[in-house]
Amino acid sequence: MNTSQPMGVSAGTAVEALYSRADLRARLADALRAAGKNPDRVSIDDLSHMDEFHLGGRAATAGLADLAAIQAADRLLDIGAGLGGPARLLARNYGCQVTTIDLSADYCEAAEWLNRATGLSERITVVHADALNLPFADGSFDVVWSQHTQMNIADKRGFYREARRVLRPGGRLAIWDVVAGPVQPIHFPVPWADTPDLSFLAQSVELHQILKEARFEVTAWNDLTTQTIESLRAQPAPDGPAGLHTYVPNFPAKATNLVLNLEEQRIRMLQAVCTCE
Ligand SMILES: C[S@@+](CC[C@H](N)C(=O)[O-])C[C@H]1O[C@@H](n2cnc3c(N)ncnc32)[C@H](O)[C@@H]1O
Repeated sequence: MNTSQPMGVSAGTAVEALYSRADLRARLADALRAAGKNPDRVSIDDLSHMDEFHLGGRAATAGLADLAAIQAADRLLDIGAGLGGPARLLARNYGCQVTTIDLSADYCEAAEWLNRATGLSERITVVHADALNLPFADGSFDVVWSQHTQMNIADKRGFYREARRVLRPGGRLAIWDVVAGPVQPIHFPVPWADTPDLSFLAQSVELHQILKEARFEVTAWNDLTTQTIESLRAQPAPDGPAGLHTYVPNFPAKATNLVLNLEEQRIRMLQAVCTCE
């Protein structure tokens, strides 16, 4: 893991504390063993119920990759990559080089271990950094990718300004996110926040405007709320040993509220791709 840019990480933020846990790797390894796997030699399919930390899981990642037309030649940055499941899928299925950043040192360490365990560490670089202060030169990437991270970030203009800065001209931004619905407030806890002070949901129309101000041209803007509710009804969260409940505290209550918030129109699901002007 590249930890040479700690200046990018705001010290001791409550968001970092929310996600971090010192026993993360041990928990993941125990869960994999309980599922009959060798934790140091796994396939990305063995991990897919626990390393895609967003609504829609792997199907949502694959759908966004198609929409963004990911190619082998793309240099891709995943902002707020968590355990790195999407990065591994993109590296394996498309053969592209992926850099991941995350605010949680524990997540970065676990991601790096899972990259090794799946034989993908040559294609993925893990960096511990803050989305609001990316340690990369201007124009370093062809694609900036982010799923379920901006909900923890109050400074959305700063978030998309940084994403725009590190993209080359003509590069793409691919997002899969939760936005505010017409009914407020939302029920807590949710997977990205135990309490309202860590949750920063914008309305879809506000995000659209912020992206425009950051000089992005929106090429796809899909509200997938109905499809997400339908797929959750058809296929509830798996309860096998290697799931998100392994390492996300109080996950059953968070998952219940997520569904309630969707059904009551308190949150909506946004899939979008934008191009740099
Ligand atoms: C709900 S998880 C999503 C993880 C991953 N994108 C996925 O879909 O599997 C949100 C992630 O965003 C990260 N995060 C939140 N705020 C961040 C920030 N300011 N900079 C970098 N990462 C951040 C968290 O540490 C966490 O790993």
